[in-house]
Amino acid sequence: MITFKDNICQINTLNTSYLFTITKYGDAMQLYYGAKIPNGEGNVLIQKRSLLLVNSLYMDKDVSYGIDDMQFEYSYAHRGDSRPCAMTLRNENGEVFDMVFDCYKIGENPPTKLTKSHGHSDSIKLVFKCLNSDIIVEHWYLVYEDSDVISRFVRVINNSNCELDIFKVMSMQLDMEYNGQKLITFNGAWGRERYKNCHEIAQCRIVCGSNTGMSSAECNPFFIVGEQTSSNTKGDCFAFNLVYSGSHEISVGRDSFDNLRIMNGINSDGFCYKLAKGCEFVSPESVITFGKDGYNSVSQNMHKFIENNIVRYKGTIPIMLNTWEAVYFDISYEKVSQIADKAKEMGFEALVIDDGWFGVRNDDTSSLGDWFENTAKFPNGLEQISKYIQNKDLKFGIWLEPEMISENSDLYRKNSHWAIKIDGIREIVGRNQMILDLTNVDVREYLINSISQIIEKYNVDYIKWDYNRRFSDIAGGRKSGQYLHEYIMSLYEILETLTTKYPNVIIEGCASGGGRFDLGMLCYSPIIWTSDNTNPHSRAHIQDGTSYGYPISVMINHISPSPSHQTARATLPQTVIDIASVGRMGSQLDITKCSEQECDIYSNAIKNYKNIRNIIHGCSFSRLSDGFVQNDFVWQAMDEQCNNGFITIFHKRFNTVSKSLKIKLTGLNADINYNVYDRNRNFEITAKGATLMNVGLVLPQNYQGNEKNSNSLMLIDDTALTLTIQAISK
Ligand code: GLA
Repeated sequence: MITFKDNICQINTLNTSYLFTITKYGDAMQLYYGAKIPNGEGNVLIQKRSLLLVNSLYMDKDVSYGIDDMQFEYSYAHRGDSRPCAMTLRNENGEVFDMVFDCYKIGENPPTKLTKSHGHSDSIKLVFKCLNSDIIVEHWYLVYEDSDVISRFVRVINNSNCELDIFKVMSMQLDMEYNGQKLITFNGAWGRERYKNCHEIAQCRIVCGSNTGMSSAECNPFFIVGEQTSSNTKGDCFAFNLVYSGSHEISVGRDSFDNLRIMNGINSDGFCYKLAKGCEFVSPESVITFGKDGYNSVSQNMHKFIENNIVRYKGTIPIMLNTWEAVYFDISYEKVSQIADKAKEMGFEALVIDDGWFGVRNDDTSSLGDWFENTAKFPNGLEQISKYIQNKDLKFGIWLEPEMISENSDLYRKNSHWAIKIDGIREIVGRNQMILDLTNVDVREYLINSISQIIEKYNVDYIKWDYNRRFSDIAGGRKSGQYLHEYIMSLYEILETLTTKYPNVIIEGCASGGGRFDLGMLCYSPIIWTSDNTNPHSRAHIQDGTSYGYPISVMINHISPSPSHQTARATLPQTVIDIASVGRMGSQLDITKCSEQECDIYSNAIKNYKNIRNIIHGCSFSRLSDGFVQNDFVWQAMDEQCNNGFITIFHKRFNTVSKSLKIKLTGLNADINYNVYDRNRNFEITAKGATLMNVGLVLPQNYQGNEKNSNSLMLIDDTALTLTIQAISK
């Protein structure tokens, strides 16, 4: 709910309050963001900020208005605030833009187009007018009451008589006092996406993000600012994300007056948007939340928000068998039909034909763009295999990499100018491919038409939408500073058209694994391939890191062979299964080559997963042990009623002398009896919720890495187990 009274705006969600005021000079000043406070108390907060400063610029001879120390809602460059600002504007006249509050409006529909959050309960826009030019900047706030989330963005309207250069446009600025907080970002690389990283915030500025044209494996847009002692279960925390898939920026700085300034938005490195007269620019939405019970509390807010207000597809996600690691490029009608026979027997629900089915593609050097079947591999067309699969009541899925073009392709021979490249300089390629210029309307039309034809001709239920190279030579000439943004907006236009036309086709997002795991893609793809690395040791880190910002219901995890194709590390099949079950389970095994015993293990895994999968969506997910610093990852997922759930434990190293693991469960009903069991291992206890939460669950020592082989006892690293939790009675 939003109120604006006595010059103070208070935005309340279920458990949080966000307050700002408009100063006598027409700036919006941050007052408070945190746990909910009663309405009408804002004056207490204003007093606190009236400081007299020695070394600061001030407004209009008013020494109490120290610009460097004020906590603003949004700062414009060149107006006395020497900290990094949120917006830099310039025009050909070299004007300095003096933005002053004009009015506000509650409840108006937001101007965000294409990718956006949906289902907000309230909105407010603040209108700032430029004193010396016809430029308007609106600051928007949308409220998601139930998930304790607020989203923020800005709109710039150029009514002046000349073009306006936007050099920097952050979607959000949040100023607050520094009292020892730390910054937590999620970084990595291919096969090592979203590893948790903690940074001390010294008197400096930490800027990270991506300038690759994609949200990236190197730095996810999600981040947390938490109290010094905060952990998964304790401490005041703020979490942030961006509804955007392109180059992004996270900026956290601490100034000489011990203020923190937190900002996120489009990456400003090389950015310059040329806003023609009469036009407007809307920034991506920044999503923010507060929780007072540690990282789990902000993660749970984000999980709820993403499931309810970002992901649009609401249908069932099938358990899929993907052909990639099973056959790689060596795919054919015979192989896929054999896999389909076995997949049906084992309980899979979808078969996704990965790379290699189209053009003359036998490796990664050709054919991207030629989206018609390779007749040497599928002599009777893809319809035949699609029918074969669907006649078995399996969903039919197909891999596409629509944004790319190979030099060796019919598409390139016909339309080489569609590829992004700059003549006269050395060519840079990645995975032998170039990116298509999606800002060209002909390219967009070509993609929409060819993908529509594929969907209709082959009756496609599921698309794996891949993206395997980053940007290098940015096209766009005079407008190259806005090219990467326009590219992403063009991609969203294509996805918007296709998802509107085919609402039942599921799109799995993918970018060399999890390189574009972000809220922008999640608007169109309800699930994203978490990483190419499916080895459980790596996966436990990747999935845990991802869970800080994203619900397990959007993560696709595959059971794949041991030793792992990515790390060559060997792992027990049950461990692979346990880790893959924490999310959307699928597989890339060549099931036609598995022994009968292995097939039984995997069929059983699918059967068990079908019993827990209704918990995956909408669950309350908690990290009970921080495996980035400890030996175990422990995850608990409970359904909304707190009746049914599961705990998955991943134990990294076997230690000869070690205590039994004791796990304090969370979120149970104190007075209800719960059965916690793993019947395969004869483990079962019954206790009240209060006992399980306060005393904890003690696991027998043989769960810590000891596994019995047929004739000897082996000590094994990287083991996992899953326990079922079931409420039984009062
Ligand atoms: C990328 C994806 C993989 C697979 C291959 C196919 O690397 O991440 O899952 O689809 O492309 O070429």
